[in-house]
Amino acid sequence: MSNYATNSLTLPLQLISAQEFHPGTLCAPEIATNMVFKTSLGVVFNADCLKILPHIEDDSIDTIFADPPFNLDKQYGSKVDDNLSEKAYLMWCRAWLNECIRILKPGGALFIYNLPKWNIPLGAHLTEEGMLFRHWIAVNIKLSLPIPKRLYPSHYGLLYYTKGTPKTFRKIRTPIQICRHCSKELKDYGGHRNAMNPNGVNLTDVWDDIPPVRHRKFKSAKRTQNQLSTKLVNRVVQMSTNEGEVVLDPFGGSGTTFDVCERSNRYWIGIEKESCDAIIERLSTPLVLPHENGDFIEG
Ligand SMILES: C[S@@+](CC[C@H](N)C(=O)[O-])C[C@H]1O[C@@H](n2cnc3c(N)ncnc32)[C@H](O)[C@@H]1O
Repeated sequence: MSNYATNSLTLPLQLISAQEFHPGTLCAPEIATNMVFKTSLGVVFNADCLKILPHIEDDSIDTIFADPPFNLDKQYGSKVDDNLSEKAYLMWCRAWLNECIRILKPGGALFIYNLPKWNIPLGAHLTEEGMLFRHWIAVNIKLSLPIPKRLYPSHYGLLYYTKGTPKTFRKIRTPIQICRHCSKELKDYGGHRNAMNPNGVNLTDVWDDIPPVRHRKFKSAKRTQNQLSTKLVNRVVQMSTNEGEVVLDPFGGSGTTFDVCERSNRYWIGIEKESCDAIIERLSTPLVLPHENGDFIEG
């Protein structure tokens, strides 16, 4: 199998041959009525994540990726209140984070994508609960609006913690950057270009190569906002899991994480409180394409 993270363009992928395991077996029967979609690799629950997470086995998940609402008064639907007091928002986050810690395997990875303002108290909570800080990854964002009397916001924080010493960390290299217009390399690498690894440069904790999800072919028509790029989620999945391991996302949205897992042969568990129609359509049709991803997985 190639070391490049580039995704298969077809869905569903069913590369794991012996179907002896299904991640649904990690979930107690009490939540079966909330299950709205299933593939050979994963399962989606349509409910509040705080109703589902307590019914997932202890120490059973390899990686959790969470992109929660940022409490910016966005309209996700009639069930989600994205305009809580600061205290209520942090209490709510601590409640689902504690469940995430419980269900992670020892050495499993937890990624939280949020505003720097929330990542500070949430990171402090994770440290207090005994999680191991790995990185604050700055994900460069375009198109945010200037805020009066403040610096121009240009990154979201992707917190990366593990439950003790990481059990899986796969080194990633990214392609040497070239100019979109003239195809020449952007940097001269201080005259050491010839000595560089042909598979690319070491991935850093500043990710400025994540594209916005703008074009229709990358976006679910049933849900046009708040969709992350598959490139970001794929990098997280590739870095922290091997094929056949289990990824959980408590805030499914348009299903980016589940799509990435299907294409990269990981098992997955998904939760979404509002409608899951966009997720179901995305996983059952070839309508939404993944972003190109030239990451090289060194192993
Ligand atoms: C920022 S979006 C996630 C987008 C997703 N990463 C994607 O790429 O499509 C947050 C999602 O969390 C859902 N949500 C909010 N509160 C929830 C809760 N308590 N339990 C489960 N899902 C919730 C919202 O409906 C929304 O779809």
